[in-house]
Amino acid sequence: MSPLLEVRNLSVAYGAIEAVRDISFTVEAGQIVSLIGSNGAGKTTTLRTISGLLRPASGEILLEGEPIHAQPAHAILGAGVAHSPEGRRLFPRMTVEENLQLGAYVRKDDGVEKDMQRVYDLFPVLGERRHNKAGLFSGGEQQMLAMGRAMMSKPRLLMLDEPSMGLSPIMTQLIFDTIKELKEQGTTILLVEQNALAALALSDQAYVIDLGRTTLQGPGHELLADQRVRDAYLGES
Ligand SMILES: Nc1ncnc2c1ncn2[C@@H]1O[C@H](COP(=O)(O)OP(=O)(O)O)[C@@H](O)[C@H]1O
Ligand SMILES: [Mg+2]
Repeated sequence: MSPLLEVRNLSVAYGAIEAVRDISFTVEAGQIVSLIGSNGAGKTTTLRTISGLLRPASGEILLEGEPIHAQPAHAILGAGVAHSPEGRRLFPRMTVEENLQLGAYVRKDDGVEKDMQRVYDLFPVLGERRHNKAGLFSGGEQQMLAMGRAMMSKPRLLMLDEPSMGLSPIMTQLIFDTIKELKEQGTTILLVEQNALAALALSDQAYVIDLGRTTLQGPGHELLADQRVRDAYLGES
């Protein structure tokens, strides 16, 4: 059986700048897979290309064996790939409920109410504040809403770009606990993080990206023990 997502020899450029160079990785259904690496490595560019917001210069992106890299973004979302973007990108003047409804706009089934309740069960504070405007929320609450909004499309693959960015240690822990819980509920997750320690600890597979290239890959716990990773990304040098 094909993996849920397969990225093959992907290169992406902004004009003359090659941001992603020949990256390959796979995400099996049910896994948490992480892309880690320093600022500017090409992680966000990779996720935006999978979402159809950028086009590859070369390479392929396959969802259950079917190429998606030439499809428009709304079709990729409709095929089951949701993206919680770096910086969260909520609609600040809209309420929690309205932001969640927007996440469900590609769906045609009648399970939207039930899934909204599922988001509120996962993040009770969002339920309590469902009629409040998103722009008034703390960074942690906005991250919860960004994840909840992505979940509302009922994705087969949930991509999270820097979910812990700018959050307190307690809020970071809560977000990582939720990622683990989502996996236990059966969601497949592609995670991008600069917090390598926390990301590797919960990843089935991880890829280290440096200057647009994959430099190391392996199970999260193996990379966590790798001296090269510890020196470069875990602040032990
Ligand atoms: N819109 C853009 N135009 C030109 N260059 C960009 C743009 N976005 C990102 N880049 C460049 O592409 C490279 C990869 O960036 P990015 O994918 O955002 O990295 P990461 O998410 O790993 O921090 C960097 O060198 C960055 O400066
Ligand atoms: Mg980024």
